[in-house]
Amino acid sequence: MKIVDLRSDTVTRPSQAMREVIANAEVGDDVFGDDPTVIKLQEMIAELLGKPAGIFFPSGTMSNQVGLRCLTDRGDEVIIEANAHIFRYEAASGAAINGLQFNTIEGNRGVITVGQIERRIRPTNDEHQPLTTLVCLENTHNRAGGALFPLDEIERIRELCLKHGIKTYLDGARLWNASAASGIPLNEYTKHFDLVSVCLSKGLGAPIGSVLVGDEKTIVLARRYRKAYGGGMRQVGIIAAAGMYAVEHNLHRLKDDHARAKKIAGTLKDLPGIKLHPVETNIVIFDVSGLDVTPEKIEDDLRERGLLIVGMGGGLLRAVCHLDVDDSDIDLACGIFEDYFKG
Ligand SMILES: Cc1ncc(COP(=O)(O)O)c(C=O)c1O
Repeated sequence: MKIVDLRSDTVTRPSQAMREVIANAEVGDDVFGDDPTVIKLQEMIAELLGKPAGIFFPSGTMSNQVGLRCLTDRGDEVIIEANAHIFRYEAASGAAINGLQFNTIEGNRGVITVGQIERRIRPTNDEHQPLTTLVCLENTHNRAGGALFPLDEIERIRELCLKHGIKTYLDGARLWNASAASGIPLNEYTKHFDLVSVCLSKGLGAPIGSVLVGDEKTIVLARRYRKAYGGGMRQVGIIAAAGMYAVEHNLHRLKDDHARAKKIAGTLKDLPGIKLHPVETNIVIFDVSGLDVTPEKIEDDLRERGLLIVGMGGGLLRAVCHLDVDDSDIDLACGIFEDYFKG
């Protein structure tokens, strides 16, 4: 049976051409700073994102946590949206490893406003209270369904943070998608943040890898923390090469994923009992809590029909478009949805 896997944009497999690039990559010991391919990738991503320097990581989680560590001290408080990946899905490492306290704000589709943030900043003249030293944003926002964070709100947030001496951090795992959907250049987003993390292993289709970008001094510090957190890697030009290939070949096609997500949305919106969330990029989230059948049962039933999607709790199911599904796969998925929910 043909399987259409829409669980995540992380399920893509390296193409033959990407595997050839991996096989032929020039490598060296990256802990010594000797891997020419890693150096090239870091420079390439830093330039693309308009920052002076970058550092390669094995995962978005490590990149985020090292990023947070660089911008805070233990015991500091970080303002963040309540459904942000850093808060919800990184196994409490912000608290457990970095010693941070999070002050969470329930956003509107992942977006928190400058007014909400301002009300959460702690006074600095009260020794009882932690110091607010960082605001974290996520763009696009995963749990909000690939939602875009508006640039004008980011600008206002940055201005507020500068006024208070608070640093800003962007979890830009899917910033590529944000830029593709909004038409706003990557550096127009990144210039409002001290550090930005982007993933190569999601929409871009690399097997591994994230890059953290910022100023030279902070990236040197990030190298120290990456080593401390066990992320110092050796001949990783083999995966950096895949990352470079992914940027060069797959960045321009993210709009196809967005169009396919809209196609799925077009099918789901008319199906009985389904509440579709707005679709802005490659992620489709829909609420099935109005149906008699549980999300888990729906997941199992669809799997039996050859369609893989994933539950997110709270009656929500998620389907994500990516490099390894084409128009015919999406037609197949839409047909399965229709048969199942109408039948
Ligand atoms: C918004 C966001 N940030 C960070 C990550 C973490 O990436 P990784 O799975 O590479 O640790 C993810 C993963 O899905 C994500 O969606």
